[in-house]
Amino acid sequence: DRGGGYGGRDRGYGGGYGGGGRGPRRNERGFHGSLKEDPRLEAQLFQKADQQTAGINFDKYDDIPVEVSGDNAPEHIEVFTAEAIGEDLMRNTQLANYRKPTPVQKYSIPIGQAGRDLMACAQTGSGKTAGFLFPVISSMMKNGVPEGPPPGGRRYKPSPVALILSPTRELTSQIYEEAKRFCYRTGIRPVVIYGGSDFKAQTSDCDRGCDLLVATPGRLVDMIERGRMSLAACRFLVLDEADRMLDMGFEPQIRRIVEEEDMPHCAERQTFMFSATFPREIQQLAGDFMQDYIFLTVGRVGSASKDVTQKVEWVESRDKDRVLIDFLHTIADGLILVFVETKRSADEIEHYLCQSGFPATSIHGDRSQREREYALKTFKSGETPILVATDVAARGLDINGVTQVINYDMPNNIDDYVHRIGRTGRVGNIGNALSFMNDRNRNIAREVYDLLSENDQEVPQWLQSMAGSAFGGRGGGGRRGGGGGSRFGARDFRR
Ligand SMILES: Nc1ncnc2c1ncn2[C@@H]1O[C@H](COP(=O)(O)OP(=O)(O)OP(=O)(O)O)[C@@H](O)[C@H]1O
Ligand SMILES: [Mg+2]
Repeated sequence: DRGGGYGGRDRGYGGGYGGGGRGPRRNERGFHGSLKEDPRLEAQLFQKADQQTAGINFDKYDDIPVEVSGDNAPEHIEVFTAEAIGEDLMRNTQLANYRKPTPVQKYSIPIGQAGRDLMACAQTGSGKTAGFLFPVISSMMKNGVPEGPPPGGRRYKPSPVALILSPTRELTSQIYEEAKRFCYRTGIRPVVIYGGSDFKAQTSDCDRGCDLLVATPGRLVDMIERGRMSLAACRFLVLDEADRMLDMGFEPQIRRIVEEEDMPHCAERQTFMFSATFPREIQQLAGDFMQDYIFLTVGRVGSASKDVTQKVEWVESRDKDRVLIDFLHTIADGLILVFVETKRSADEIEHYLCQSGFPATSIHGDRSQREREYALKTFKSGETPILVATDVAARGLDINGVTQVINYDMPNNIDDYVHRIGRTGRVGNIGNALSFMNDRNRNIAREVYDLLSENDQEVPQWLQSMAGSAFGGRGGGGRRGGGGGSRFGARDFRR
């Protein structure tokens, strides 16, 4: 008798998805991964060079106010223990050097384990990835393989128990790397699929057994259409960068995946949505995919990390190149991420920087997947310490050593700004952001002003007057209003 303990095999295993004799071999827990210790793999997964380590301000996370709304929220945890997350995951947190949970993790773990749906908002770089991976992995350990008819009729189709969707290929691949670390020796086999890379290689990887799938929506739809993937076994659906996944660009694909294929209805699965930003109207939409969910906020929804020092400078468009070069000369070390508006200007600025003697590369949607991966690789290694990027790199990417973000062009909305500057100042490390603004950015002046004031940043006089005039001189208020009536969704819109 294991009384609901971890790592068992009694529940569900043997029938339905767990048995049936078709498909790849299953381990004693009913999954497809390995339970064995593997020193070489372990060294590779947990090598320190690749990881961000907690910085000097890590403990200050505990000062950020946490709000939990929704019915009967379970008590949060304060520390990682084998009892709370299971022995296997506990061992992996130690290997990863996660000494204690970040605020979002303290709450998301018990909420997820209690079988609840969750919408979680916490600032950039504060550990949301483990915030959804840990409850998913530990619940999978506890519950074993779900019961049900074998997916796909007579022919074998892989069908993940957990599905994690994210908006970009690079982020998807990063989440997969993190999932590999925390699935180590649990027996859960994580698989990744995304566009721009070999379809056949990815399907055959899935065919070897797929317990936890990390995917971009496009490639997943493709695989489902070609009859190579079923979602019938899915018990955990995670949308990372959920507000982006539900905005106009992605929503139809998400609905297709969640509502029009064989995924279990929301009463039969758990749904987790995570992001640093969550506009009110998207919160409303998100309700379609969840049931009696808990809304968790660490700090204000959409607030920027306080570990990033934000500066804004008035720069006319024609002067941007020169100001950029002058500024780069003042930076001694660290990796620098430069955001621009268009793919074309990304190419142009990369070229211009290289010609000016700065080793730069670029990442954007018109580059091939190989080029994108290579750019990221040489950026991470410091070979090209400057990466010029469009918004494809704005969300989720966790790159060790980024000390400076530059908004060469300002984004069109404040949430994108929050995500972009959040590429630095992660896990309690400090970082810097510099933004070039001019008359063309009047549309977000007010919100930038509010964000800077909220974080006690220096506000130039011109921004103050620009912010004032942008809304006809109305003082105060803005998005920080916090009240339930704010159109920015500073909190749970249900309140
Ligand atoms: N409990 C922890 N202890 C130490 N480091 C941690 C802990 N949790 C996460 N990290 C590390 O913190 C970094 C940032 O985590 P993560 O990428 O999950 O942030 P995020 O909240 O998803 O940010 P974003 O909003 O930009 O996506 C990662 O390098 C991760 O390994
Ligand atoms: Mg993230």
